[in-house]
Amino acid sequence: MGKFTISTLDKMKASGEKFVCITAYDATFARLVSEAGAESILVGDSLGNVIQGHDNTVPVTMDHMVYHTECVARGGIDSLLISDLPFMAYGTPEDTLHNAARLMRAGAQMVKLEGGTWLSDSISMLVERGIPVCAHLGLTPQSVNVFGGYRVQGRTPKEAKSILADAVEIQDAGASLLVLECVPAPLAADISRKLDIPVIGIGAGPGTDAQVLVMHDLLGLSAHTARFVQNFMQGHDSIQDALRAFVEAVKSGEYPRDEHSYQ
Ligand code: KIV
Repeated sequence: MGKFTISTLDKMKASGEKFVCITAYDATFARLVSEAGAESILVGDSLGNVIQGHDNTVPVTMDHMVYHTECVARGGIDSLLISDLPFMAYGTPEDTLHNAARLMRAGAQMVKLEGGTWLSDSISMLVERGIPVCAHLGLTPQSVNVFGGYRVQGRTPKEAKSILADAVEIQDAGASLLVLECVPAPLAADISRKLDIPVIGIGAGPGTDAQVLVMHDLLGLSAHTARFVQNFMQGHDSIQDALRAFVEAVKSGEYPRDEHSYQ
């Protein structure tokens, strides 16, 4: 087990110190992320976009996630290793348990799944069996075909109320962390205040307990980036410096700014 655990992240939330998560998909970059001081690494199914070249995450399979989780786990990292359950890997309780166990055996210390209330029983079942869970609400990319595109979620009072209710329910079900993606900054701040568990934002403004970015986005390597992304290679000579700059910018509150947020 590395230096950072869920207890570290809970203590950081309690003390108001921001923490950082960066995606990684292989051993070398995982080591660089860990050395830059990020408390957590996400083996995201965003690998479907940035590694495999798809325009969404739906084609990513369990075999892909297991392979990249094993690669990252071999990076000798101090960061807490979270791994995504991909599209259709948690449609039934049997699949959820079987696939989450595969990720844990590959080296994950926590699994992430996308969705709200409908996942409560799955979350309780995983936690009761020793598998910590990070939930993911707001813009959940595996549901891009339901949303009809990558759109900010929670803009209407009804949607905002439903995201808050989902967040409370998944916390009550036993989730240890929550990722909130592409929601208005005031909603994300409100949810972060109301929950006891740490909330990690992406395109969710400065009021969350932590920030996550896809590594290729923050290194300025992606062909298209959303408004909430900052290219940290600008002004830095090496990948190591850019990763450190991202970590420092989150901790100092320099990132994200209003220009990276939705109101
Ligand atoms: O797959 C991923 O990288 C993610 C982050 C964008 C949060 O889910």
